[in-house]
Formats: sequence, structure tokens, C-alpha cells
Amino acid sequence: MKQLFTIIAGVVIIVSLVVSGFTYRQIQQQQASLTDDLQRRTSLLGDSFKESVRPYYLTEATSTLQSLLDKFAGRERLLGLAVYDNKGNVFATSADLPQDLTLSADIPEKAMDKDSTEGDFVAAGSGKVYVFAAPLHQDERVVGALTVYQKADYIDAAISQTWKSNMFRLFVQALLFSLAIVLILRWIIYQPIMYMAEAIRQTRTGMPGNITAMLNSHSFFKPIAAEVTKMSKSLTLARTMASEEARMRLEKLDTPWTSERLKEFIKAYLKDRKIFTVSFREPYSHRKGKNGITYEMGVGGPVTALDPVMSACGGVWIGFGSGDADKQTAGPDGKVPVPPDDPKYTLKRVWLTEKEVKGHYYGFSNEALWPLCHLVHTRPIFRKEDWLEYRKVNGKFAQALLSEIKNVQRPIVLIQDYHFALLPEMVKNSRPDAEVGLFWHTPWPSAEVFSICPWRKEILKGMLGADIVGFHTQQYCNNFLETVGKEIESLVDLERFSVTHGGHTAYIKPFPISVDFTGTKDQIFKSQMPQDLGIRSKYLGIGIDRLDYTKGILERLKGLEFFFEMYPAYQGQLTFLQIAPPTRQGVEKYREFAAEVTREAERINQKFAGNGWQPIVLLKEHYSHEEIYPLYRAADFCLVTPLHDGMNLVAKEFAAARNDEAGVLILSQFTGASRDLKEALIINPYSAEQTAEAIHTALTMPAAEQRRRMKKMREALKNYNVYRWAMEFLKSITSLG
Ligand code: G6P
Repeated sequence: MKQLFTIIAGVVIIVSLVVSGFTYRQIQQQQASLTDDLQRRTSLLGDSFKESVRPYYLTEATSTLQSLLDKFAGRERLLGLAVYDNKGNVFATSADLPQDLTLSADIPEKAMDKDSTEGDFVAAGSGKVYVFAAPLHQDERVVGALTVYQKADYIDAAISQTWKSNMFRLFVQALLFSLAIVLILRWIIYQPIMYMAEAIRQTRTGMPGNITAMLNSHSFFKPIAAEVTKMSKSLTLARTMASEEARMRLEKLDTPWTSERLKEFIKAYLKDRKIFTVSFREPYSHRKGKNGITYEMGVGGPVTALDPVMSACGGVWIGFGSGDADKQTAGPDGKVPVPPDDPKYTLKRVWLTEKEVKGHYYGFSNEALWPLCHLVHTRPIFRKEDWLEYRKVNGKFAQALLSEIKNVQRPIVLIQDYHFALLPEMVKNSRPDAEVGLFWHTPWPSAEVFSICPWRKEILKGMLGADIVGFHTQQYCNNFLETVGKEIESLVDLERFSVTHGGHTAYIKPFPISVDFTGTKDQIFKSQMPQDLGIRSKYLGIGIDRLDYTKGILERLKGLEFFFEMYPAYQGQLTFLQIAPPTRQGVEKYREFAAEVTREAERINQKFAGNGWQPIVLLKEHYSHEEIYPLYRAADFCLVTPLHDGMNLVAKEFAAARNDEAGVLILSQFTGASRDLKEALIINPYSAEQTAEAIHTALTMPAAEQRRRMKKMREALKNYNVYRWAMEFLKSITSLG
């Protein structure tokens, strides 16, 4: 659009300059010719009047002279006539000659002095008058002058008319040119490019379509059609080979799982059965912005982990439509193909009322269950009205899911997280043939801690409707089994890790979720963001967390303060960049926490800042994965210090991004990730001393040691990435495991 305007503006400017130049020349010529014509006519008139007037002037026949002047003055464009004596006094004037024109006798006097005709333009009132004087003689002597006054306004009027008509012509030309440019660009350039983009997209996404025919049908693309066709063929070949290779590797667990291999697994073992995922947070939301509608990827573990899985397997993902342009971009059934740029699966948006969001999401999910599951000394708030909304919203999602699986036999349903504890039972009651997995992304507390929840039995029964209840670690599974044993009448089998309740058996298993990392050496460039933010220090530390009190951000800041006190030489040398997108701002505790983090960062900055350096840069904004990965690459260390966290994928993303095998991960012992990433510097985040010491160790760690640790962590990620997680979870749900 911008380019279009630039082209149009350029053409309009050039056309305007050309037309204005020609108009200027035309006007100069017109003015010269009109002036010349006026002067010539006036001079002829003056000469002929002079001979008629002279005898009456010499004989001083005033009244005859007067009537003669009046007679002459009646002609077209003639304003009047006057006779001056040789002293420059008016002798006689025609009746209608405006008085002010005779006040100055400059021109007749000049004519008399030089004894020749004289003419010039003078201003009169709001117009212009041409004054012409011819000397009157007696014998050889100049005795007076006849002056002729001609209207000259019409010259200016003619010139202004020429300007106007030329400007109108310019306007019409500019309009026609702009229209022509728009049409040419659209038909000759834009449409063919869109056509080519579509042809390439079809090839890239493996859609059936004959790219050669498509491109050849447009003469514009003939020169590149052959090349693109070759590219398309090699892509198809590569795809077939990858798929074949993945099929061959299906059973070899020592090679990494990839999206291709997962696809093959689904084809081979699940016979292409359809997968339905349910999470509260939708993977993609659409928002209205200054430049139209844009989309954003959701934050948090479920979205980060499941989007690559769903992209590989296809299927339907049901989530809450939270974006302000979500309704506009979805079909009447709430469905939209995603990722929006390169659709791989369907997102079905469920619409909720404000009351439902308040009670279900802010209330019971995030003020009751979230603090109940995380041991961070934040008291859960149990409100009856929130619980009722929680139940209602679980029912609403159950309806949405049931209508999607209506015609699907033995659907596979993957339910995500604590927002939907009641959903497994609701689905199973209506569709016993559905194979349902519930994955709990947060920790599970001890039975004693859980026992304070007034609706604990309903929650546990709801969860046990699933065929598989998955947690990140064995510890959480143990806690869950202990809780079930204490709270509801059921058969808990500690050998098979199962619970039988109401005739249905649910298996409780750990599946440590991970990231989309297959060990390939994708190129990741170092981010320029620190430089753009004015960070010039030698060392860079980063932290990336939602602004959540479980993430240990305040403790991390204390650790940094302690570090700068213990190692003052690093003041001015190290900057810590904390990216903390606000989350759950409808909950008071979160608003308070966000304000406290800001205050604490400012306090520490005031304490140490100097010479254009500050120790902490806090950005309370959301950044995409494309922006974050290069930032991981630019850091010397990453601080992941939650007080309690089911897994924490930031820690895994940091290692996945470090294809340079450098950088140090400092990781809280209270995260699920600390079980998988043992080569991180593991700390107790409650101890500022330990955090400070770990930062010092990271900054002084030899490159070889960094490499050794990073290599091992990356190896662990490669062996158990999100594709393997999905495969194992799916295998268990479908009784293959
Ligand atoms: C955690 C939860 C997720 C949630 C995410 C983001 O990772 O386990 O279920 O989606 O936080 O939280 P939000 O409330 O912003 O969706």
C-alpha cells in the first residue's frame, strides 16, 4: 500500500511539474501578446484622436472639445480621454473618466517632455488601466497632450482563466494517471504475484496442485516456471524421503522424534484417527491494531508445547476466543484455520461471557486452583460463585467438544490443565468410546495441602473420568495418587499406577513435557534487541516469565542485588534483561505483584545505576518466539528461578536456542525442568546468596565447561522433545503404551 502511494505521488509530482512549466510558458506568451495588442490598439486610437482634438484645443473651443471627447470615450474597453495643457493641468476630460486617474500627470508630462508618445500600466481602484499619451503641437511646439485610458483588467482575467483551466486539466490527468497506476499494478503486478505466492504455498504445504500449469498459464511467469517446477519436485522428493525415513525409524527410540515421525506414528498406529485438543488459552488470537487485524500466539506451556504437535498431526483445538478480533476472523461456527499464515489444523473458538470468565478463569482457576497447586505461600480463595461458573464453563466446553466429535468414531481427546478438571468425566459420560487424556501442567500438591479445597471430591472425580491423567513428574503422580486414596472411595493400584472408580480405570503417569527441538542446527542469529535498548555492558543475563508470583521474579531481583554487592566489580559490566508480559490482570494478587516487581527493579536500579548503566532492564511486554530465540542466543546466562513450577519451558527453550553450545542456565530446584536439565546450575531460589553465587559461577565459567553442560542438556532435549512427549501420551491414551 505504502509503495503504491509512493508511485502515485511520484507520478503526480512529475505530471504537476511538467504541466505547471508549460502553463507558465503559455501564460508568459499570452500576457505578452495581449499587452502588445492593447498597446498597439491604444496607440492607433491616440494618433487618430489627436488630429481630431488638436484644432479645438488650440482654439480653446472647450464645449466642442468636451463633446468630442465624450463621443470618442463611448468605445469598447475605453475608459476615457483627457487633454492636458503644457503645464500638466487637465484641460478637458471625457465625462465618465474616473477623477483619480487624472490626479497624476506623469505620463502626459513625460510625453510632452520627450515630444513622443508614452504609455504605461497604472493601478486604478482594484483593476489595471493602460494610459497612453500623445503630444499636441502648435507649429513645432508642444502645447499639450491627449491621454487615452484603456481598461486592462481583461488581461489578468484571461491569464487567471488560463491557470484555472490548466489546473483543472492537471487534476483530471493526475486522477486518470493514479487510476491507471492502480489498475496496472493490480492486474499486471499484484495479481500475478499473489497467484505465484499461492502456487508456491500449495507446493510448500504439499497441497495437490500443478504449479507448472499454474505458472505457465500466466505469461509473466514463464521464465521462472521451469525453475520453480524443479524446486517443487525436489521438495516433494525430500518430503517423501523424510516420511519414509520417519516410518523406518518408528521403532528405533534412539533416534530423535520429529514432526514427520509423529505424523507417521499417527498414520501407522492410530490409523489417522482424529485428535481433539482442549485448552483454555487459545493458540492464536486475533487483535485489532493500528494497521488492521494482526494475530498473536498464546503464551504458556500448553500452547508452546502443543502447537507444534497439532501442526504435525492436524485436528481440532478448542479454546476460549479471547482476542478482540477473534469473532471477526472466525467463521459462524467459531472455526478458523491456524497458524493463520500457514494453516495446519483447525481452531474452534468458544465464546464466554464476562461473568463466566470472571468466575471460571480469574476466580476458580487462578485464585483457587493455581495457588492450591503451587507451594508458594499464596492463599487460595474459594468462592462458591466461582465454583459454579467453573462447572458451567466446563459444561460449555464439553458441549463444544461433543458437537465436534459427534460423527467421529473413537475420537482421541487431549484435555489441558487445571481449567478443565471436570471435563474428562463429562465427555466420558456422553461418549464412553472417546479416549481421553488429561494433562495437568502445574504441580500436584500433597494430599494434605489439597484437602483444604471444598470441592476436592468433585474435582478428583472429574479428572478420573480420563483414561490417562498425566503430570510432568513422578512426584506429582505420587501426590495425586495419595490425594485420591485419601479423598474418594476407589481402588488405587500403586504397582500399575491406576485408580479404579465407578467401574472406570484411569492411569496416572508422568510425561515430562518439552519443546520442539530435534537437534538440527537451525541458524539462530544473536538478537540486536539489547543494543536497541541501549544495553552496552559486557555481560547480559536474561529472564523471561509471565508476571506471575510463582516465577520467583522478586527473589531473582534480590539475588541480583546481592550479587552486585558481593561482586562490585561487575557494576557497569552486567545488565539483566527481564521480559515479563503481564498476565491475569483481573486478579488483584497479580496486579499487586506486577507493581511490586516494578518498584523493586527501580529500587535496585537507583541503588547501583551510574555512568549511563543500570543493572536491570524490565520490559513488561509480550514477545514472540521469533524475537525471544535470538535473545536467548545473545545472553551469557538465563535465570529461571520459579518458587514452584510444573515444568518450565523457558529453561528448555534456552538450551534449545543455544546451538552455539554456550551460555549458562541457572535453574530453580523447584521446577519440573530441573529433573531433565541436570547440567544447569541448580539453585534454591529463596536463597539470594545461592542465586548470586550461581551468577558469579556462570560469568566465570570456562567456555569448555559451558559447552560440556550445554551439550548434555541439548542431548536430553533431543532425546525427549515434545514430539516424543506427544507420542508417549497418545500411546498411553490409546492403550498402546
Ligand atoms: C501456565 C498454565 C497454562 C496457562 C499459562 C498461561 O503455563 O499451566 O494453562 O495457559 O500458564 O497463563 P494464562 O492465564 O495467561 O493463560
